[in-house]
Amino acid sequence: MSKTVQDALSGGAFEGRPSLRETYRKGDSVELSITDIAEKDHCFGRLEDGAGVFVRGMLAIGDRVSARVIRVKPGYMEAVMETLVQPSPDRTEPRCPVFGVCGGCKWMHVDYGAQLRYKQKKVRDALVHIGGFDNVEVASALPAPESFHYRNKVEFSCSSRRYLLPEEIASDRLDRPRDFALGFHAPGNFEKVLEIDECFLAKPEMNRALELTRRFALERGLEPYAVREHTGYLRNLMLRYSEDEGALMVNIVTSWYDEQMMAEYRELLTSSMPDVPLTVVNNVTTRKNTVATGEREYLVHGEGVVRERLGDLCFRISANSFFQTNTRQAEVLYDGIMRMAGLAEDDTVYDLYCGTGTITLYLARRCRRAVGLEVVESSIGDARENAVMNGVGNAVFHPVDLKDFHTIVPTLEEYGKPRVIVTDPPRAGMHPKALETMLRIEPETIVYVSCNPANLARDGKVIVEHGYVLEEVVPVDMFPHTSHVETLACFRAPQKQ
Ligand SMILES: C[S@@+](CC[C@H](N)C(=O)[O-])C[C@H]1O[C@@H](n2cnc3c(N)ncnc32)[C@H](O)[C@@H]1O
Repeated sequence: MSKTVQDALSGGAFEGRPSLRETYRKGDSVELSITDIAEKDHCFGRLEDGAGVFVRGMLAIGDRVSARVIRVKPGYMEAVMETLVQPSPDRTEPRCPVFGVCGGCKWMHVDYGAQLRYKQKKVRDALVHIGGFDNVEVASALPAPESFHYRNKVEFSCSSRRYLLPEEIASDRLDRPRDFALGFHAPGNFEKVLEIDECFLAKPEMNRALELTRRFALERGLEPYAVREHTGYLRNLMLRYSEDEGALMVNIVTSWYDEQMMAEYRELLTSSMPDVPLTVVNNVTTRKNTVATGEREYLVHGEGVVRERLGDLCFRISANSFFQTNTRQAEVLYDGIMRMAGLAEDDTVYDLYCGTGTITLYLARRCRRAVGLEVVESSIGDARENAVMNGVGNAVFHPVDLKDFHTIVPTLEEYGKPRVIVTDPPRAGMHPKALETMLRIEPETIVYVSCNPANLARDGKVIVEHGYVLEEVVPVDMFPHTSHVETLACFRAPQKQ
């Protein structure tokens, strides 16, 4: 049980009364109103006697539900939603026909305005319950410019085992083969794939390429990958779209290279999508996993890269490089970073976990020197190329595992002491040693960019213990219809007398 949950339940109405286990049993049916969202896509509510219940199901705050108890713990219960007794006013009709089966858009049944409120609350709850920031003010979540078709990268999987829809199982009639699927892995199922005809987060051009690839695979009898047996040819279809060029990158991932097959695939795509600038690559992997990264890449058509623009900067993106998946909202995120950083012309700034240097280059245009640090050598290579391509001469990049941040600090001294540090760690948050080194450097301003509110709260607690003040928290919605939220937090050192 997470700390957030423990705190939410402590002092519950059950204290001093018969225990939950004496009162409730697995299999009991209970009725309650949903008052909160909880972790792991559960929702939370209390029974009339005060017992806290975590309910699984596609729910919204304000729903009245009847649920079946599946676990009784000393301090709370877990249940599965059975019937929706009274729908919440936050609900809306989900557009996608496989909503609820596909795990991609868990909040598509919630009105977009309500999604933003839930995300704001999620960030606040983490800061209060995990970080101990009792009076923190969290701004309204910044909405994405487009709430559908916003993703610039989508990764489909191919499998020899198709996930059957409940209505197919009930009718006993299959309209599609059982032994081929191209779509998304069914939630919690590493083997079966749910066929997707149209993804509402993907660009329309991506959905067209998906359909063409499915047709090609079925007509040619391409053998889908079977993860358990580690056999089959077609493994993944990864698509990238450049808003700036209106161009599509098709990356077909296979178990081996078949030159003739790729020539035919190229012919199909180029003749069927003459209106879309295309590049096609074939990543080949023999690894025993479902990851869409190849050991070798073959160029099938075009340049093998797309170019994207963020603000007035241009970036070259290859099949396997990291790039923010919501291009338009990335600009909103980066503008927020710039505002919080408040750079002056003479400043040095560090950008920790810089990836391909997108934030570093943004920052570099407003200061004397920007220093990007990142562990993946190929990303450092891309970052340096991006700097040259954009004519940014005052950004430097160093490869380093930030858990060893302290070892590189003497090398960085020649750039001057950073007045500002921006940090954008992966979901796990900052390594304690990286955090310690950052605090030892004593920047005036720390801008923490986080995709995990719980770890922002954990690291933020350490930052304020070192005398910093949490000045501003702004959630940014990069992923509408999912429960994920990006957060910008600005910490400032108290002014020295
Ligand atoms: C959330 S991404 C941030 C990317 C970049 N700031 C951007 O906006 O495009 C996190 C980055 O941290 C890098 N990373 C993960 N662990 C690291 C470590 N131990 N040391 C340095 N970089 C690390 C990843 O390779 C990834 O590029």
